[in-house]
Amino acid sequence: MKAIQVGLLGAGTVGSGVFNVLQRNQNEITRRAGRGIEIAMVADLDTDRARAVAGDEAQVVSDARAVIANPEIDIVIELIGGYGIARQLVMEAIAAGKHVVTANKALLAVHGTEIFAAAHAKGVMVAFEAAVAGGIPIIKALREGLTANRIQWIAGIINGTTNFILSEMRDKGLDFDVVLKEAQRLGYAEADPTFDIEGVDAAHKATIMSAIAFGIPVQFDKAHVEGITKLGAQDIRYAEQLGYRIKLLGITKRVDKGIELRVHPSLVPAKRLIANVEGAMNAVMVQADAVGTTLYYGKGAGSEPTASAVIADLVDITRLHTADAANRVPHLAFQPDQMSDLPVLPMSEVVTAYYLRLRVADQAGVLAKVTGLLAEAGVSIDAVLQREAGEGEKQTDLIILTHDTREGTMDEVLARVQALPTVLEPIVRIRKEELA
Ligand code: HSE
Repeated sequence: MKAIQVGLLGAGTVGSGVFNVLQRNQNEITRRAGRGIEIAMVADLDTDRARAVAGDEAQVVSDARAVIANPEIDIVIELIGGYGIARQLVMEAIAAGKHVVTANKALLAVHGTEIFAAAHAKGVMVAFEAAVAGGIPIIKALREGLTANRIQWIAGIINGTTNFILSEMRDKGLDFDVVLKEAQRLGYAEADPTFDIEGVDAAHKATIMSAIAFGIPVQFDKAHVEGITKLGAQDIRYAEQLGYRIKLLGITKRVDKGIELRVHPSLVPAKRLIANVEGAMNAVMVQADAVGTTLYYGKGAGSEPTASAVIADLVDITRLHTADAANRVPHLAFQPDQMSDLPVLPMSEVVTAYYLRLRVADQAGVLAKVTGLLAEAGVSIDAVLQREAGEGEKQTDLIILTHDTREGTMDEVLARVQALPTVLEPIVRIRKEELA
């Protein structure tokens, strides 16, 4: 049988990985897919770059629309990124009856509803394993491997750049700004790292996982997004003394009133496997009713790890494209007419434990006053640590770990604590997840 014909849009690092892996493992991939997979066209504005990636094996064009217009092309791989031209091209490819493989988490998290509806109407597949956690097959696991389960929560380290920075901050006792500069110098962080360090990239990925886990539409606009830019080395140190590590987690959880969807730094018990995921690695923890806890670990970015996910999607499509569209795995795991309207909850309704650090005057009654206000609001304290004040020092750090508290309650009580004249600096507050 003739090899399935693929057009690649965007000849960057991942595109070159797709070529390399397809070529190296051609024999086994064909034996798995049932027929060959051939990249017949590559489009990139930089045609020299595209030629360097494709060699003599594919036609190189500068116009992506030439790929979409080619009736021989069965599958379009979109590796351009962003919401602009990539969105138009994906919609045009779907309208032209092409299946689409994309690594574009931003596009799916923001415009997924529109894209999946168009694909469903046209009877084509949009596959996106590479969009979440790179080479880790987490989409496959959530959508198919765990399909018997009622998923309760997902917590993931799904941004390698920030995990690298946090690991360095902990190892070397350095502050965020210093480590970011070093990460940029070494090429671990982009020149413009905003999407990574502000938590946006992780929130795109958490949004996609949330939709698949709970059968809700993709709703990036409802996600709470907080990055690591305000974290200080001293909080990482205090957390460690209390038996915790600080990780940027993407969390989505089903609770009685709806769905939590949030990205923020979290204290995680140091004894959890996920707390020991270091450097640029990714890991996703899933809690589900039948299987219990499962953990998926691996490279969340990079040329061949991401190519591994892209090619897995190519193989899936090659196997399934002749199947009746109704018998394929639904894009978001649940049948399109069976989606849930459970709301994504505002942060004020989210319940978590907290780490609080207060810079206070070191004098009688301060601790009693602070804990008194917390007690009045019904906030239960789990642990307290007070740094010994140095000789002649009149201030000290007070660290408080709380039990689970509604965020709205915590906001109100912390406003009262902050107003105490003996609380000398803005209170640092970091959420804490036991992940038990
Ligand atoms: N920039 C991402 C990361 C990889 O640092 O993990 C692509 O999503």
